[in-house]
Amino acid sequence: MLSAAAAERNKDPILAVLRDCVNPGRPLQALEVSSGTGQHVVHFAQALRNITWQPSEYDRQSLTSIEAYRAHYKLNNVQPAIHLDASQPHQYWGGIQPESLDLVLNINMIHISPMACTEGLIKGAAALLKPQGLLLTYGPYAVNGQITPQSNVDFDYSLRQRNPEWGLKDISFISSLAQKHGLFLEKIVEMPANNKCLLFRKESLV
Ligand SMILES: C[S@@+](CC[C@H](N)C(=O)[O-])C[C@H]1O[C@@H](n2cnc3c(N)ncnc32)[C@H](O)[C@@H]1O
Repeated sequence: MLSAAAAERNKDPILAVLRDCVNPGRPLQALEVSSGTGQHVVHFAQALRNITWQPSEYDRQSLTSIEAYRAHYKLNNVQPAIHLDASQPHQYWGGIQPESLDLVLNINMIHISPMACTEGLIKGAAALLKPQGLLLTYGPYAVNGQITPQSNVDFDYSLRQRNPEWGLKDISFISSLAQKHGLFLEKIVEMPANNKCLLFRKESLV
């Protein structure tokens, strides 16, 4: 069971956003893209029992950690973790059926992965969400080309030093990309430590 300090700090603030935006009264299906250690998925699954959670990861070591959390907490609303590369088309996302999900959750991946992952996340979520389903992303973002405060500017610089394809993405860019695929930015929630939650709603076909 790996443990990430950031996940420990942000799991309750993100849970509060989830409580505000998901219906507690009916069974729901959620996919978490890039579950990391597995700390988030077990925390959310304990609190939101009406949601069946599908964790996923790209990194094999993290998959082992997610499985260790699952075994430890014995939650019947967490599925075995699947290998998922967000940059790949949704047809490679473990056989999840189109329009079968109520929620896609992605925490702290967009800034620390190439643009192909952001594009894949949005296209995949657009295909797999039911109409009116929700894509929730969490992390640090640029706003209209500006990164604030200085700590996020420094963080962006350090990410780009590690990999020129990484770095904070702009909300307006993500939003227009999402819109092209039928996901509309419904809400931005300011979060602790200069992060934000972005809530995208899949358009209804009726
Ligand atoms: C900063 S960690 C965040 C993990 C977790 N969501 C959390 O908040 O603790 C970034 C995650 O992105 C994942 N990642 C990197 N490339 C990916 C890809 N192509 N598809 C899916 N996830 C990827 C990494 O494996 C890593 O778990």
